[in-house]
This record gives sequence, structure tokens and C-alpha cells, in this order.
Amino acid sequence: MSSTGFNRRLRAEKLLLPPLAGYTDYPFRRILAEHGAPFMCTQMLSSEAVVRRSPRTLKMLEKPDGGHLHGAQLFGDDAVSMASAAVSLEALGFDYVDINMGCAVKAVISNGAGVSLMGDLEKAYRVAATVVEAVSIPVTCKIRLGESRREQNALELSGRLVDAGVSAITVHGRSGEKKFGEPVNYDAIREIVESVDVPVVGNGGVYTGFDALEMVRLTGVDAVMPGRGLIGNPWIIEEIRCAFNGESFAAPSLDERKTVCRRHLGYLVDYVGEKDGVVTMRRVLPRYFSGAVHATDLREFVVNISSVGGMLSVLDRLVEVGDQVVFQRV
Ligand SMILES: Cc1cc2nc3c(=O)[nH]c(=O)nc-3n(C[C@H](O)[C@H](O)[C@H](O)COP(=O)(O)O)c2cc1C
Repeated sequence: MSSTGFNRRLRAEKLLLPPLAGYTDYPFRRILAEHGAPFMCTQMLSSEAVVRRSPRTLKMLEKPDGGHLHGAQLFGDDAVSMASAAVSLEALGFDYVDINMGCAVKAVISNGAGVSLMGDLEKAYRVAATVVEAVSIPVTCKIRLGESRREQNALELSGRLVDAGVSAITVHGRSGEKKFGEPVNYDAIREIVESVDVPVVGNGGVYTGFDALEMVRLTGVDAVMPGRGLIGNPWIIEEIRCAFNGESFAAPSLDERKTVCRRHLGYLVDYVGEKDGVVTMRRVLPRYFSGAVHATDLREFVVNISSVGGMLSVLDRLVEVGDQVVFQRV
């Protein structure tokens, strides 16, 4: 798909799903496809690992069927390696490549990648321009406001990324200093929207349809990207779509949550086997019921579960009491 077609679809759908390490794996992306995701993305992948065809990384590149556009996100600081990985992703049929310029995790920034690229605009430009040059699919970038609260250069970087030829920019409206412990700076996102002529996607603190509308109202972004709000909550796709269309949204019933959670477990087991599937489900299952009474007990309880049967029986302990979902501790 051309950059023009990609941008037209992005502006029409107004919703780009995030890369989430440890969560947007193939099983969850299958769930997202079933929930009508217009765009979805792998978690961040090391360009080096893609280039050397690491079996673990190649497995992460499996794609679910569906009408969505599927992206893959790369991190790295070497322009040649990033471009070479992007070429592989294009050959594997990905619809777009996203460059990670926002990750603040130590293992990533200590290698000069992620948000560290924001500290070296020339290098960031070179990485983006080399990747854009190497592939014919759209290239997007995900950035923060800056490496730290003092060094906020997202506006300048955005201009350079547009010069490099990127198709769209996702702006996480916080700096890299505290990962998530800062309020989202909507004014800073708006400044970027007003200064570039590619679509800007607003990210940070979008948990509901209302938050999505607020993000657009306060910043003028072309699309929104929920982050943590997607985990255990594929229904946010429909919720945001309803909000943009002025329609009311019916939250999923407890039974529906259990059904999707069960299916998610099944997909995990198909993908990595029972042992690893159950280990992943220990952090995923509680997210489907994060609003439940005794949710902390639920999180602690699942940590000791090591079989599919055990995981399924946890669902029986989630019941409705009045209008609340309760995890029954005994
Ligand atoms: C568990 C987790 C994993 C994440 N993995 C990635 C990633 O692989 N690539 C990336 O660009 N951002 C990643 N992020 C950042 C999110 O995509 C998003 O920018 C951030 O959570 C802010 O949005 P929120 O306030 O709505 O959560 C991750 C965030 C979380 C919580």
C-alpha cells in the first residue's frame, strides 16, 4: 500500500493499535483481528535479531488473517541494520514498518536505540531516511516528547522525520524520564500536529472512548493509539469507534469477557504450548478482569497456576454480585 493509501485509511479509521512488548504477541493479535482492529503492530523487535533471522524473532512475526493493516516495529540505532530488517519485513508481507524512538527501557537505551535516538537528531534522521529509502511500504515513527523533561525536542525531531519521508508519526505525550509517571502534555502534541503535514497519532492515557475524543479535541491529532488500555481489553477498539461515530457502546458482559479470555488462552497454548502459554496467561488473565473486586487477590492467585485446567477454573471464581464482578477468594 502506498503512503497515500495508508494515510487515507489512518485518517478514516482514526485508530492505530500499539506495539506492546509481552502483550501484542501473535495470540493477542488474533484476538484483535477478531475484534475488527483496523491496524495492528508486533511488539518492538531488534533489527539485529530480524537480520540474523533469530528463530524466536521470526516466530514473533507471525500474522493473523483479517482485513487490517499489519505493521512491525523495529528498534536499533544502526541505519543499515534497521533498513535491512525493514526489507525483510516487507518481504514477509508487512504493510508498514514502525521505528521505535520512544522506548525508555534500559536494555534498549543503553544500546543507543529507542528514546536515545531522540538525543541525536542527525542519527534519528539517518535511521528514518535509510529505512524509508530501503522499502516501498510506509514507514512510521513512534516518539516521545524528548529523552527527558528538560530535553524536549519532539517538535524539531518531527520536522526531521518528515524530511526523511516518514508517512506518519505517533507521539507519546510524555518524556522518556519516567516512562509513564508524567501527565500527558496535550499542548506539546498539538504543536507537532500544527507543524507537520503527515498524520499525527496521539498516544498516552487513552483508556476509553471518551479519552480518545479528548485526545483529538485537545490536540487535533488525526488518530489515537491506546496503550495499556488495550491489554485485556480488545473491546476498546469498538468503544473508540463508537465514540468517534457518536454511537453508544455496550461494555462486554462478564460471560463475554470469559469467552474471549478462554479463547486467548487457547491461542497461547496453540502458539507456545501449555507450559509457556499458562505462564503468559498469568499476567494476561487478570487484565481481562482488572475492575473486579479483589483484583489484587486474583493477580496473586494466578501466579501459582501451571495448567490450562487450573487457569480455566479461575474463570469460575469470577461472578457477578449486583453490578460488580467479584473474584471469589475461597
Ligand atoms: C507492557 C508495555 C509494553 C510496551 N511495549 C512497547 C513496544 O514494544 N514498543 C513501543 O513503542 N512502545 C511500547 N510501550 C509503550 C506503549 O505503546 C504506549 O506508548 C504507552 O503505554 C503509553 O500509552 P498509555 O499511557 O495509554 O499506556 C509499551 C508499554 C507497556 C505498558
